[in-house]
Amino acid sequence: MKIGDLDLGHKLLLAPMADISDSSFRKICKEQGAGLTYTQMISAKGVIEGNFDQLKLLAFDKREKPLGVQILGSDPGIIGEAVKEIAKYKPDIIDINSGCPIDKVTKHNFGACILDNKILLGEIVKSMVNSSGGIPISVKIRLGRDEKNINILENARVVEENGASLLIVHTRTRKEKYYEPANWKDLASIKKAISIPLVGNGSVFTPTDAKNMIEQTGCDSVMIARGALGTPFIFSRFNKLMETGIDPGVSDVKEVAEVALRHLDYLESEKGEFVALGHAKKNFVWYFREFNGISKILEDVFSINKYSTLREYVQEHAEKILRGEFENENFDEIKRKFLVKVLFWLPDADYDASKSNNKKG
Ligand SMILES: Cc1cc2nc3c(=O)[nH]c(=O)nc-3n(C[C@H](O)[C@H](O)[C@H](O)COP(=O)(O)O)c2cc1C
Repeated sequence: MKIGDLDLGHKLLLAPMADISDSSFRKICKEQGAGLTYTQMISAKGVIEGNFDQLKLLAFDKREKPLGVQILGSDPGIIGEAVKEIAKYKPDIIDINSGCPIDKVTKHNFGACILDNKILLGEIVKSMVNSSGGIPISVKIRLGRDEKNINILENARVVEENGASLLIVHTRTRKEKYYEPANWKDLASIKKAISIPLVGNGSVFTPTDAKNMIEQTGCDSVMIARGALGTPFIFSRFNKLMETGIDPGVSDVKEVAEVALRHLDYLESEKGEFVALGHAKKNFVWYFREFNGISKILEDVFSINKYSTLREYVQEHAEKILRGEFENENFDEIKRKFLVKVLFWLPDADYDASKSNNKKG
């Protein structure tokens, strides 16, 4: 797939995920063969006001390139100013979030609210294209407000007519949030309606899922969100599958521990031990959620208060798995909970996708 001068070949994309798609995780996914990764959503207003927390989210390491920056906003003027500012850092693509359904975002008329207003959508895209100094613009959008208001074909045309270089479609409606099964079938008609590249997104958890999405719908590539949490190996497995026709299968404990520990190192350098610890714990849980012993991790990990202790714990835990010390787990139940909320260990009331690093995480 080509976006302007950027040729991603057949590689997959890492999705923007709040509090997850940070520089460390983007680097890990790039090392594993992701073609393009995105920052989490960054407030356009925050960027132009010099808000430190928002600007921090913009920081990236050259090793991550190619990289996309996703912004959040709904005022074409503010968005244009923010794009001018972001373009100075030379990301490879700048995206507008037109799909996020969470209340914290939609109460400001951001995210999924934009998909109800095609005039505004067009103005936003045009303002981004005019301000980006040639950096390609992408739009990440959902199918429509709800199943009775699917307007993706109209919106896709508006996105293309106003000069965007890539359309990413999360194949759910705003109402469906993350839980309902994704509905890939609309991708085929969107592909026919536009000539810019189309990336499909929604419930792709294995390399074969990604291949099926491409083959069944004709989309040009696939964006992975939850399917990369603790399993960034999906990118390398997919690349192998496309090159050889064979998926090498899930990684063994040794490889998982090695990548998890490297991820912990990156997090510590990126954020410092104090802030990194919470991120490191939740990523550790995701890396080991498909191995026996995950219940023991959940019992122990949140009381660990030092990075060095966590590192030792990861190593010892991997050795115990290799020695077969743990009982069989109910993986179906873990997967079911994970699909409802990625912080599956938190009680329901504590969960807010926009604060995915909160409390025990
Ligand atoms: C914890 C979490 C945070 C997310 N944050 C963002 C975000 O910042 N911007 C965005 O466009 N989508 C965000 N999403 C949506 C994902 O990018 C993706 O569209 C959605 O999870 C569907 O893909 P999947 O089925 O592969 O998980 C988030 C999803 C999750 C689970």
